[in-house]
Amino acid sequence: MTQDVVLNNHLSDDFAFDEAIKTLRTNIRFCGNNIRTIMLTSSTPNEGKSSITFSLASSLAETGQKTLLIDADIRKSVFVSRYHLNKDVHGLSQYLSGQVSLNSVLYSTNTENLDMIFSGPYSPNPAELLEEAGFQDLIKWAKERYDYVIIDTPPINNVIDAAIIAKECDGAVMVIESGGISYRMAQRLKLQLEKSGCRILGAVLNKVGRGYSGYYGKYGRYGKYDKYYGEKPESVND
Ligand SMILES: Nc1ncnc2c1ncn2[C@@H]1O[C@H](COP(=O)(O)OP(=O)(O)OP(=O)(O)O)[C@@H](O)[C@H]1O
Ligand SMILES: [Mg+2]
Repeated sequence: MTQDVVLNNHLSDDFAFDEAIKTLRTNIRFCGNNIRTIMLTSSTPNEGKSSITFSLASSLAETGQKTLLIDADIRKSVFVSRYHLNKDVHGLSQYLSGQVSLNSVLYSTNTENLDMIFSGPYSPNPAELLEEAGFQDLIKWAKERYDYVIIDTPPINNVIDAAIIAKECDGAVMVIESGGISYRMAQRLKLQLEKSGCRILGAVLNKVGRGYSGYYGKYGRYGKYDKYYGEKPESVND
């Protein structure tokens, strides 16, 4: 039995973004019935994976598709704070490390047809946790119960997690920040997904024409891509 959470998702007033999400949803539906477990990833942090993952999952749910959103970015969860969750929740890291049962990490949301598994507290060994049989079992279980399983992941160039998750997915969507990464990095993203054996469904070019490229194009804030720790814990630094 699932428990309820309220995600305070203020309605977007960005018509272009909403239309783009609808197009993405339509394109995913046209990938066919075999493509139901889908991850979103990118080369580097901040390209928009979590925003697009949430909007896509909500959009699929709104059209009546029973959808499970899994936040598999155990290094940096944004969903709890970004959507002002109304209660404390258990999450994936606790389930994968055997601390809690699957039932206690599964939450129904205030969006009809949308269930959610949060990432849970920061764990020092996310890659090892994701390689456990528990993650495969979770995906298998979810596939039997949901029309779509949409998975948020960390950037693939920084940590191995997304490549591990890709092995369990039917397809991957690459999120690319317009003007934010080089052609070479985008190619590397594609290559890494291909190596994991996951089918690449396509790419989303995000933050187009919004004046982001000047700032991010210089990689000013994320100059080093060798490590990715996310926001928690603050004591962990490069
Ligand atoms: N299309 C967009 N237009 C405007 N702002 C956006 C868009 N997409 C994402 N953002 C903003 O960019 C920031 C990063 O987005 P998000 O957290 O979704 O990226 P991410 O790829 O999941 O990051 P991380 O790799 O750190 O997990 C957020 O502040 C988000 O609101
Ligand atoms: Mg994210």
